[in-house]
Amino acid sequence: CGARSEESTSDNGSGSEGKGESEDKIVIKFSHVVAENTPKGKAAAMFEELAEKYTDDKVDVQVFPNSQLYNDDEVLAAVQQNNVQMAAPATSKVSKLFPEWQIFDLPFAFLNTEAVQEAMESEEIGGKLFSMLKSEQLLGLSMWDNGFKQMTLDEKPLIKPSDFEGQKFRVMSSKVLESQFEAVGANPTPMPFSEVYSALEQGVIDGQENTLSNIYSKKFHEVQNYMTISNHGYLGYAVITNEEFWNGLPDDIRKNVKKALDETTQWVRENGQRLNEENLEKIKEDGTLEEIYELSDEEKQAWIDAMNPVYKEFEDEIGKDLIDAVKALRD
Ligand code: LMR
Repeated sequence: CGARSEESTSDNGSGSEGKGESEDKIVIKFSHVVAENTPKGKAAAMFEELAEKYTDDKVDVQVFPNSQLYNDDEVLAAVQQNNVQMAAPATSKVSKLFPEWQIFDLPFAFLNTEAVQEAMESEEIGGKLFSMLKSEQLLGLSMWDNGFKQMTLDEKPLIKPSDFEGQKFRVMSSKVLESQFEAVGANPTPMPFSEVYSALEQGVIDGQENTLSNIYSKKFHEVQNYMTISNHGYLGYAVITNEEFWNGLPDDIRKNVKKALDETTQWVRENGQRLNEENLEKIKEDGTLEEIYELSDEEKQAWIDAMNPVYKEFEDEIGKDLIDAVKALRD
């Protein structure tokens, strides 16, 4: 899809106004920020293939990975304006418009991927979060998994909460993530994903948190010395579209595009974790990290305790009902 990037300057990619081979087709531009060999990158490619197949090529899905078209700060507005028709921002980034979506950023909120999926399927969590998108011309179609985040740092292994003291960490744009790092005495720096590698390389930041697939595919492990397997937070995606665009699709097209999406979602659910595990092995094989440290249960409990004040701090902003509903999943 690199060859298609010359269309990236077009500010109206919607409907049937695509160019060249897309002349009579309905163009769906899909913008994302990660590499192609990640859960989201692979899912986007699979969605492209299936959507085109199920609509007998009446739809032309154009995937733009690696922040080629828009970075984190721009993509929500691009979907709202129908400059791209679909995107799958991390839930943390949706929280810029809807702070309630920070629920997924609360440290140690989910025990496993199944709990996240259960949350998204429930009316009181997923239903509530998806329904609010409509007030901003957005429609939530699906939730895609990536996986749990791990910590990396340049200077030393992160084992005790006090190891965070004074270290500068990149965060996605989410106040909860900032607060999580402040709770352990670190300095959070919000930054788009596309800038993380060079910020690490140049020492603008000391560390970052991300999934193994994002760490591996963007080579963060080559510019960091230590990684802690902490599984402290979850990274997943809201697959969103422009509401007017979606509702304006012919019924049969919409049905088949949704079918392609549902199959893709199922695939990411079944394979996201595996891809992250494979990436851990590749990170080990590369041998660029000095140490990969796995927190013991006791050490993890010290992190949980240190980060716990974040829940109280965001009770009003996220909503006590939502927080209680997520906590209930643990019981
Ligand atoms: C990040 O900014 O670290 C992630 O949201 C990137 C992504 O989309 O997985």
